Amino acid sequence: MPMRDKIFVALDVPTISEAKRLVENLGDAATSYKIGYQLAFAGGLDFARELAQQGKNIFLDMKLHDIGNTVEKAVENIANMGVQYLTVHAYPQTIKAAVNGKGNSALKILAVTVLTSYDDNDVSELGFSLKVKDLVQKRALQARDYGANGLILSPDELLETRALVGNTMELITPGIRPSGASADDQKRIMTPARAFQNSANGLVIGRPIVAALNPREAMLNILKEIEHG
Ligand code: C5P
Repeated sequence: MPMRDKIFVALDVPTISEAKRLVENLGDAATSYKIGYQLAFAGGLDFARELAQQGKNIFLDMKLHDIGNTVEKAVENIANMGVQYLTVHAYPQTIKAAVNGKGNSALKILAVTVLTSYDDNDVSELGFSLKVKDLVQKRALQARDYGANGLILSPDELLETRALVGNTMELITPGIRPSGASADDQKRIMTPARAFQNSANGLVIGRPIVAALNPREAMLNILKEIEHG
């Protein structure tokens, strides 16, 4: 698979016209895009279908979680959109329902174990007795065992998680910054080359590309950096 297919550019912009401008500017430098809540609620789901029809790989970051029946029916429809990845929260019922809903389609289910904004106190407030780290590991194994295709995780969890879940799962990570780039609000960052060395299968990159003066040049520089890194 070409390296550019493994880099999901996060279309974190408020409007479809801005997203379109960005996709046009990137041209053939980018083939994969992530669409999350912000754009989804501004027409981003139709845009996701449109991009998928143009042959782009689309990652829908919807972090679904509901009763099994609702998740299953939602995922059946998402599987018909032609997108490549969908995120769901890593609760056993939710994973099972998503896996049933995708059926034999090419859609891959990525599980979010514990949101990275949660610390031990937040998890305790929810009524869980485990520490975040242990809950992440428990949920990662459950996600694998219930048929999720991969996990979304922070780059510093790559090595440990790979050792835990083995090679059958895809590990996809945000928090990526090319050397010398601003960390923005990301607390634990890694360069793209390092993340691949640490067994990532794919990266999500937003601001270093989307907020660059020339997004295409930023993307091409990232690809070069990986090649030489
Ligand atoms: O702009 P930046 O490269 O930081 O964007 C990263 C993308 O990954 C954003 O869409 C963000 O919502 C997402 N993400 C993240 N950290 C997580 C989960 C998702 O940065 N723990």
